[in-house]
Amino acid sequence: MLESNRRYWLKQIGLSVAGIGLSNLNAISAPTNTVEKISADNLPIRLSSNENPYGPSPLARAAMIENINISNRYNWQLSTDLIQAIAKNNVISTDNILLGAGSTEILDLVTRLSASKKGSFLIADPSYSYWTEAAEKLGLKKIAVPLTKSKQLDLGAMLSAIQSDTRLIYICNPNNPTGSMAERVELVKFINEASKKAIVLIDEAYIDYTNQESLSALAIENKNLIIAKTFSKIYGLAGARVGYAIANSKTIDQLSELKSWASGSISVASTAAALAALNDEKFVLEALSLNKNARQFTIENLKKLNLVCIPSNTNFIYFSLNNYKKDFFEQLKNNNIIGTKIYEEQGKWTRITVGTMEEMQKFISAIQ
Ligand SMILES: Cc1ncc(COP(=O)(O)O)c(C=O)c1O
Repeated sequence: MLESNRRYWLKQIGLSVAGIGLSNLNAISAPTNTVEKISADNLPIRLSSNENPYGPSPLARAAMIENINISNRYNWQLSTDLIQAIAKNNVISTDNILLGAGSTEILDLVTRLSASKKGSFLIADPSYSYWTEAAEKLGLKKIAVPLTKSKQLDLGAMLSAIQSDTRLIYICNPNNPTGSMAERVELVKFINEASKKAIVLIDEAYIDYTNQESLSALAIENKNLIIAKTFSKIYGLAGARVGYAIANSKTIDQLSELKSWASGSISVASTAAALAALNDEKFVLEALSLNKNARQFTIENLKKLNLVCIPSNTNFIYFSLNNYKKDFFEQLKNNNIIGTKIYEEQGKWTRITVGTMEEMQKFISAIQ
């Protein structure tokens, strides 16, 4: 770890740079305020990866600190506890859950399962596509289906694009990078049709930012439907790397067989953090409310700059730089702000993560 990062990290968990030894960890109490801003003035403002700027929650931080001391032991019990807690929260059985090191591990496992027979996979364009390179390396051909003009998933076009060799259909709802959300009834109709032909993977990384009910209940009976979930977003645990799949128990078995140790890749401290985060409802509600205010502020100000924005259901905003006269990325760089990229050349669409209100005020001043 770079020294500056180490210092930053120590500051975050309340240790002084002077270096308090591990034996003193018991004496450290977690921050008491519910939502604490964790960016510091000298660090870049990270508006690039849709992280939660307020997390980890106080309960999750306390749990991590407490469980550092038992990190010499394997995490059998804690993983079981986390699976049970997730099952209880979703009113499903523990057989329907597989833990992963972030939902990325789940996406990778689903890709490997789908690629056991060569063929193709379907994804909207643009959508969350970090996993697709691995899919292509495993021999699956990519079929990209453009979003509609208003940046919605084109479910009809996706259905029509399914080929006889299509193994996997990926739906990100709400969609990253656009923040748009499909109607649940439309999605259910889509799943009923599409899952007759291939595995349907619904990525619900941002569903907790919406009022829409998860599709996980549907996955219990449908062997061709897998729901990917994460603790990285609303629970503020991106660096802890905790995610999970919800699926039919037979499908969970198939995914588990692709691993030497199913549900075994999350550290003791991270598992404890996720477990605690599930009970920190106060934190979640505050993070949601703060995100909503900062998002509204940002959209209003982007619109004042005459920039077209897609209504967002998430902690990020998709907008067009078509009417922007300055060099957007240069403005960000000069102000120590990390943004993303141009997603669609035509229309010059880009995405910005919603940080704290203070960060978004700095972002707006930077581009004004
Ligand atoms: C839509 C979507 N899915 C999955 C991920 C991966 O998240 P993680 O591996 O941290 O759970 C991200 C991360 O930004 C994402 O935006």
